[in-house]
Amino acid sequence: MPKRPYIVGNWKMHGTRAMLSEARTIDRAAQRHMKVEVAIAPPYTLIHPVHREAEQIAVGAQDCHHEESGAHTGDISAAMVADAGGKFVILGHSERRQNHGETDSEIKAKADAALNAGLRIILCCGESEKTRDSGKAVSHVKKQLKASLPQFEDSSEDISERLTVAYEPIWAIGTGKTATTDDIAEMHGEIRALLISLYGEEHGAEVRILYGGSVKPENAAEILATQDVGGALVGGASLTADSFMGIAMAAGEAEES
Ligand code: PGA
Repeated sequence: MPKRPYIVGNWKMHGTRAMLSEARTIDRAAQRHMKVEVAIAPPYTLIHPVHREAEQIAVGAQDCHHEESGAHTGDISAAMVADAGGKFVILGHSERRQNHGETDSEIKAKADAALNAGLRIILCCGESEKTRDSGKAVSHVKKQLKASLPQFEDSSEDISERLTVAYEPIWAIGTGKTATTDDIAEMHGEIRALLISLYGEEHGAEVRILYGGSVKPENAAEILATQDVGGALVGGASLTADSFMGIAMAAGEAEES
């Protein structure tokens, strides 16, 4: 059974309790669009409040530490995310890689920790404009993923339920620029082949690969209808229920066509 399209809002460092009404509106709308799986990753401070409001959507975090606990001022562990009601965590977002110097091996350690804590993970990858212009986008993204994807020692694990990959070209994030559907199809096809080589056909073919970077209601239908695109990771347009659910509805329509 193909999985439902997965539309995930990354609120980044936006949102106080005043945003809870927006989360509630998103949740109620998601109940009317059950063909699409909708989730939001608000700032840590809103995970528990959104969890309490939500009847349908999952709430998750934008990062976690790789250790369970310890002397790590300012950090949050995967177990803490789960304790607050979080069901998933976004890992390796380019803003974390750039602003916090996160490396592929740290991201892999975080992925292992999150899975151990029972969370699902959304592992991000993507190239800079310079890398794309030099023709090395595909090799760069594959290298990132090979070094950061978790291993899944337990063969009974339903890998495609636990793991989602998000391809987000850095130059498309928050810029209004999006990759062409040809480029998205090429990159997602390469990521699919890598997932199959790592996890086998049964799991690798089922892992959803999200596209992210300036996804909006206006461009969502075209992007979501592209081969191997299993949903979207949405930043700016996830901050209002109107635009976020516009994207979710486009995903539902792409599913029907
Ligand atoms: P954007 O952000 O939709 O605002 O471009 C996407 C992301 O960073 O996940």
